[in-house]
Amino acid sequence: MTLLTHSSASPSTSLAARSFLRAPPFRAHVAPSTIPSPFRPRLLRLRASPRVKATLTVDSPTTGGASSPNGPPIVLLEVKDLKAVIKESGQEILRGVNLIINEGEIHAIMGKNGSGKSTFSKVLVGHPDYEVTEGSVSFKGQNLLDMEPEERSHVGLFMSFQSPVEIPGVSNFDFLLMAFNARRRNKGLPPVEPLEFYSLVTPKVAALNMNPKFLDRNVNEGFSGGEKKRNEILQLAVLEAELAILDEIDSGLDVDALQDVAKAVNGLLTPNNSVLMITHYLRLLEYINPNYVHIMEDGIIIKTGDVSLAKQLEKEGYRGISVS
Ligand SMILES: Nc1ncnc2c1ncn2[C@@H]1O[C@H](COP(=O)(O)OP(=O)(O)OP(=O)(O)O)[C@@H](O)[C@H]1O
Ligand SMILES: [Mg+2]
Repeated sequence: MTLLTHSSASPSTSLAARSFLRAPPFRAHVAPSTIPSPFRPRLLRLRASPRVKATLTVDSPTTGGASSPNGPPIVLLEVKDLKAVIKESGQEILRGVNLIINEGEIHAIMGKNGSGKSTFSKVLVGHPDYEVTEGSVSFKGQNLLDMEPEERSHVGLFMSFQSPVEIPGVSNFDFLLMAFNARRRNKGLPPVEPLEFYSLVTPKVAALNMNPKFLDRNVNEGFSGGEKKRNEILQLAVLEAELAILDEIDSGLDVDALQDVAKAVNGLLTPNNSVLMITHYLRLLEYINPNYVHIMEDGIIIKTGDVSLAKQLEKEGYRGISVS
């Protein structure tokens, strides 16, 4: 049995991790059992430490309408005229973003440094640094902006942040198990026991070419940049989110790691789930082929097209996009 008590958020790790970490002092108690190490639960005490042709449009176009073999597309995320400011300073970063992501679609957002890409994704997951001043966001027909960050995770939103943080004192295995069971609880399903979860998680670890020992290490503690990124994708694979937001999942990865991560992401795609990835690199688009590419500038989406739009802009020397 797992008992959780929480109380503040550490913003720069995956949404799942943030939900888990909400509020110090945070404690997770896992009852002892006879399961062999390294999967023996232990008492934990946490300290929060269809393709489209390229089209050029302006003023945050909406997208969507990709044909579905089983009927009309089902809207997963709908963002309308979203404006947001930095809470502390009141500075407006998002100036009216419009975006529709249907089930089964892969979208990429590209653009120059500081154009608002990460801010947009953080606002979607409810990062406390930002305040929405106008607009709406619905996810699976529900008002996302009304939900706490952990509720957003429980309803199927996953975010991998640009810089995942470490969680001292919590093993990857225990963390994944708790996040997995929290999601099951939300779906009205009973929790799984550690042994059953072990057989569920190990093939996912293998698919990512990760050493199984990573399950017993503390979340991201001492992980290299590439290992952290793989670990984020492992969380995504375990949680089976409907919408995965991947902010610069390619940063710091060598070619092999990038291929493993891309293969894992592609392997997770079903007709019902979607990916929103943020990247500067055409190379990632070769591995995870998006249906739509959006260009963000100064807090709005100024152009939408497909991969050919990104290639065209790169050729023209557009600063936010590189080959690799
Ligand atoms: N919490 C914050 N405090 C102060 N400024 C912020 C904060 N969050 C975002 N900004 C500012 O908002 C702008 C947009 O930042 P954001 O991180 O969204 O850019 P980005 O498009 O993701 O850039 P990059 O490609 O470099 O990752 C930047 O000028 C950034 O400094
Ligand atoms: Mg960013």
